[in-house]
Amino acid sequence: MQILTTAAGLHAYTEQARQSGKRVGLVPTMGALHAGHIQLVQAAGAECNEVVVSIFVNPTQFNNADDFRLYPRVPEADAEMLAPAGCTALFIPSVDEMYPSPAVLRFDFGSLERVMEGAHRPGHFNGVATVVSKLFHMARPHRAYFGQKDWQQVAVIRQLVADLSFDLEIVTCPTIREADGLAMSSRNRRLDPAARAAAPRLHQVLATAAAQVQQGIAPAQVRAEAEATLRREPLITPEYVEVADAQTLQPLTGYVPARPVVLCLAAHLGGVRLIDNVVVD
Ligand code: PAF
Repeated sequence: MQILTTAAGLHAYTEQARQSGKRVGLVPTMGALHAGHIQLVQAAGAECNEVVVSIFVNPTQFNNADDFRLYPRVPEADAEMLAPAGCTALFIPSVDEMYPSPAVLRFDFGSLERVMEGAHRPGHFNGVATVVSKLFHMARPHRAYFGQKDWQQVAVIRQLVADLSFDLEIVTCPTIREADGLAMSSRNRRLDPAARAAAPRLHQVLATAAAQVQQGIAPAQVRAEAEATLRREPLITPEYVEVADAQTLQPLTGYVPARPVVLCLAAHLGGVRLIDNVVVD
């Protein structure tokens, strides 16, 4: 596995691969890798000849200084996991390499980002779109791989690719969960034992809400009951629970037959903010 730290090095690596007819897969990450990331790397390895994984804790997508400062950083352990999973090149740039000058361009994803993460984390998707665009330009992948745990992020990146005509395909992989249902996340490492013990409630609440959606219970009631259940948990502070159209992400007031619904939530557990979602087809 090659270790690359410069944009020029990454560009040269993938350009040479493309010129020799190889297919390049890119897995953008912020490190502190878990089985969800490894699934993306393996999916890329099954479909591409070169698998580039980027590890970069992107400062521009954090709207909370503590969240950025405390974001887990374990590059050596990450690197050890990547080669056996099929990664052929690890791109691990510095902040100066990714942002030689502060980005002034601003993205606006309209209604897609006026809800949920976009509404609660101002500027978050601008930072995501900025860094993902940079990575797409530097690596010029044929395919880029993202996890469905970040459902809204995937929607925003698909819009980015469509609007800017990036010549690549977005591939998504399902959320990987711990045995007790907790969605795998790099931030789970920061949960103390009590918060970790409470965390599976997030998925349990989503599973109950999904069953209610299947029974046709009104979105407002599903939302209110899920939020009330979370509020009864002493260690959990819900930020939002949403019942939305899975494609447009707009909050629902009723259901449209054959249109998938996504149930999303964000909650704080002992100073750690987690998100999760389930889709009802
Ligand atoms: O999902 C993430 O880890 C990040 O948002 C991403 C896509 C790597 C951009 O920094």
